[in-house]
Amino acid sequence: MPRIKNKSVKKNITKKIKVKKEKTNKKSVVKEKVQNPTVLQLNKKNKKSPQLVRGMKDIVPPNSSDWVKMYRTADAITEAYNFSFFESPILEEAVLFARTLGKSSDVVSKEMYVFEDRDGNKLALRPEATASAARSYLTSGMVNMSQPVKLWYYGPMFRHDRPQAGRYRQFHQFGCESFGVHDASLDAEVITVAYNFIKDLGIETTVHINSIGTPEERAKYIVELVGYLRSKRSYLSEESKKRITKNPLRVLDSKEQQDIEAMEDAPQIVDWLSENSKQYFMNVLEYLDEVEVPYVLKPTLVRGLDYYTDTVFEIFADSNEPLASQGALGAGGRYDLLVEELGGQPTPGVGFSIGLERVLLEIKSKREKEKQNLEEGQKMSIKKGKKELFFAHLGEPSRKRTLALIEELRRAGITVRHCLGKVSLKGQLELADKFQVTHSIILGQKELQDGTIIIRDMESGIQEIVDQKKIKKEVSKILGIAY
Ligand code: HAM
Repeated sequence: MPRIKNKSVKKNITKKIKVKKEKTNKKSVVKEKVQNPTVLQLNKKNKKSPQLVRGMKDIVPPNSSDWVKMYRTADAITEAYNFSFFESPILEEAVLFARTLGKSSDVVSKEMYVFEDRDGNKLALRPEATASAARSYLTSGMVNMSQPVKLWYYGPMFRHDRPQAGRYRQFHQFGCESFGVHDASLDAEVITVAYNFIKDLGIETTVHINSIGTPEERAKYIVELVGYLRSKRSYLSEESKKRITKNPLRVLDSKEQQDIEAMEDAPQIVDWLSENSKQYFMNVLEYLDEVEVPYVLKPTLVRGLDYYTDTVFEIFADSNEPLASQGALGAGGRYDLLVEELGGQPTPGVGFSIGLERVLLEIKSKREKEKQNLEEGQKMSIKKGKKELFFAHLGEPSRKRTLALIEELRRAGITVRHCLGKVSLKGQLELADKFQVTHSIILGQKELQDGTIIIRDMESGIQEIVDQKKIKKEVSKILGIAY
C-alpha cells in the first residue's frame, strides 16, 4: 500500500516538476521573443511613424479627382473602340519578363523587383503589362475567342529606377493590347486610341514613329550598325561603349549629347527593311493620315524592349515643358513573336501603354499656366463656359436641410460643390471662390424658416431669393439643362 501511495506522490511531484518546467520554458520563449529586434522595437514604443516607400506615391485629394477623370476617359475611349477590360495579377513569374522583354533590357537587368516567395518561387512585381497580357492570352483561353482579342488595362507597374519627376518606382499605366490579327489598321487603331486618350484630357501630343522590321532584317542592320559604332567608339559615352556588344540598338536612342553627335551619320534601319515591311509601315502611316493623328518619322526610334517587330512608336507632349523632356507620355508597338515566345501558336499583336503620372504632370502644368493667365486678367478660364454651383449653409439646423436638398438635386442628376463641416459662411464662400463656381446657393436660419434659399451670382454679386420647392428648376435654369 505505502508503495502505491508513494507512487502517487511521486507521480504528483513529477507532474508538478513538469508544469514548472513548462512554465520556465514558456518564460524563456517570452524572453526569446523579447530579444527579437522587431518585437523589441514595438515594445519600446518606437514612435517613428512608418514612411512612404521611396519612389512610391499615395493618390490623395485634390489630385485624386484627376485620377478618376483619367480612369473615366480610358473607360469611355476603350468602350468606343470595343476593347474589353483586362486585369492580371501584380505578381508574375520573373522568367516571364526576362524571356520577353529581354535579359539585357534596362527593365529586366536593372529595374525589376525580383524576390523568392516562401515556396522558393522566383517572382517579380510586374514592370509592365504586355508580357502579362500575352501570358494571360494563353493561360486564360483567349486563344479560342474570336480574333482580334482587344484588351485594355489600368493599374500599377513597378520598376526600381532612380526616382525623379515623371519617373517612379510604382507608377500607373493605361494600356491596350490587340492580339490575333496582323493588319496595319490595328496598329493605327491602337495609336489613335492612345493619341485621343491624351487629347481628351486636354494635352496636345505628337506621335514619333518608326519600323524596326522583322528579326532577320534587324539582324542584318545590326551587323552594319556595330561596324559603324566600332568606327566611332572613341566618341561614344562609356554606357554606349558597353552597349556595342550587349545591345547596339540602344545606342541609337541614347540621350547623351556626345552619343547624339557621334550617331549623326549612323546607318538607318529603314534602309534594311524588305519591301514587305516597308509597305506595311507605309500602310500604317496612311491610316494615321486618314484619322489625322499627327506623327513624325524617327529613324533612330528602336524601343528598349526585345519583343517588338515592325511598328514602334512613342507619344510626346507638344508643350516644351521640362517635364515633357523626362520622356514619352506613352509608347508601344507591334509584337508578332511575343505569344510564340511564351509557347503559343504564332499570334500577332500590337499595343501601347501610357504613363499616367506623366500625363498628370502635363495636366497640372497646363492648369497652372491657365491659372496664371486667369490671374493676369486674360480671359482664359479652365472652366470656360462651364457653370458650377456651391451650396453654402449657416448654422446646424440648416446644415441638415442642406444635406436633404443636395440629395434632392443629386437624384435629379445635378451635383453641386459643398462643405458640410462646421465651416463659417465666410470660409464656405472662400471655398466657392476657389472652385471658381459661377453661383452659390445659401441656406441660412431665416431661409430655413421661410422655406426659401438664396442664389447668388458670384461674379455680379446679385442675390435672388427662391422658394426651396423650386430649387431643381432654378438650378437647372442656371446650368442650362432641361428640367
Ligand atoms: P514603356 O516605354 O516601358 O513601354 O512604358 C510606357 C510608358 O510608361 C512610358 O512612356 C512612361 O510614360 C511610363 N513609364 C515607364 N516607366 C516609368 C516610371 N519609372 N515612372 C513613371 N512612368 C513610367 C511599356 O511598358 C510597354 N508595355 C508598352 C507597350 C504596350 N508596348 C506594346 N504594348
